[in-house]
Amino acid sequence: MSAPTLPANAGSSPDSAGHYGRYGGRFVPEALVAALDELDLAYRTALTDESFQAEFGTMLREYANIPSLLYRAERLSAEVGARILLKREDLNHTGAHKIRNVLGQALLTKRMGKPRVIAETGAGQHGVATATAAAYLDLECVVYMGEVDTQRQALNVARMRMLGATVVPVTSGSRTLKDAMNEAMRDWVANVDRTHYIIGSTAGPHPFPAMVRDFVRGIGVEARQQSLDLDGKLPDAVAACVGGGSNALGIFHAFVPDDDVRLYGFEAGGDGVETGRHAASITGGSSGVLHGARTYVLQDEDGQTRESHSISAGLDYPGVGPEHAWLHDIGRARYAPVTDAEAMSAFQLLCRTEGIIPAIESAHALAGTLKIIPALTAELGRKPTILVNLSGRGDKDVHTAGEYFGILDGEQA
Ligand SMILES: Cc1ncc(COP(=O)(O)O)c(C=O)c1O
Repeated sequence: MSAPTLPANAGSSPDSAGHYGRYGGRFVPEALVAALDELDLAYRTALTDESFQAEFGTMLREYANIPSLLYRAERLSAEVGARILLKREDLNHTGAHKIRNVLGQALLTKRMGKPRVIAETGAGQHGVATATAAAYLDLECVVYMGEVDTQRQALNVARMRMLGATVVPVTSGSRTLKDAMNEAMRDWVANVDRTHYIIGSTAGPHPFPAMVRDFVRGIGVEARQQSLDLDGKLPDAVAACVGGGSNALGIFHAFVPDDDVRLYGFEAGGDGVETGRHAASITGGSSGVLHGARTYVLQDEDGQTRESHSISAGLDYPGVGPEHAWLHDIGRARYAPVTDAEAMSAFQLLCRTEGIIPAIESAHALAGTLKIIPALTAELGRKPTILVNLSGRGDKDVHTAGEYFGILDGEQA
């Protein structure tokens, strides 16, 4: 594999204004600039503040069951002709990688002296994680969720309410994640003095993409060390699904300087990129501005954001974090779409071979991995070892998957 040319900031940070090459930055109303500056300062201070790092580390370890396991999926490996290692983020408290970011931002909220947090959520995982952190740290919590997602992720709506959060169904636009994010931004503008907006992915205006990445990058730091402990060497490739991009950057970031480790991000191809019904912003989009940052966006000729589609609520987003846009353009990570059907087939495979029900988002990572095995085997001349981020568990998706496979009885269907 040829070594890509990386700018000096590779593997660390964007420039001081939040740019990754031509992506990122801050495109926000005047009213939010002071709040973003305050957040940037709090986050930078926290990065080097030993007491913050110690408290964050204790919360991850003692509350969230982190570090997560690295698991050798042997039956799956035998079936697919590659050695598959799964980073078990599904075993974290609340069932996904999202808890890492949320605990970090909730702790920052406390440090900034704000009593209220708001969040947007698609699959509900980020909403549940935020409601959990708010209960744990005694913060008021409001979660915005597209009405369509409140229906396909009803279980997570109930979980958030049990945890004491207010869930607001958003009825504008496509009634999915991007609309929830718009509503949350409106709330933030109106209540910025006493509210922190916990964005759930490596998206949004600076400093969110860098800050969220830094809170989740432990995934890759752990997995890198776990791989070395297990095999005495690094995996040939690392794979993850890409919605806004947090679980992918979380696992990629520590490997970016390792030129021999290939990085693969799998986007939601929905019904197929050629049908227009998909959420593959890098493969099927173009450069534009969404939710405060320049990045790849699904948009029409007038720059209006197009509706996205994916069977997976957490990947159903018409943009992607700016660091991914940059990693794509410089060729350090490769991105490809995975259709709903391919993801569901991988979902079933993991259930049957390993007794693990994955989140449908994570099933995209596995499906994409299956597609790259033949080429990677040919390139290496041997069986590849591929580290896959199992970003979450499938409890929230049981109804969607049950319907998809036609295995629900009578009135449940
Ligand atoms: C389990 C899981 N994986 C992946 C994602 C996609 O988000 P991101 O791309 O930020 O990791 C989500 C979003 O809700 C999720 O719940």
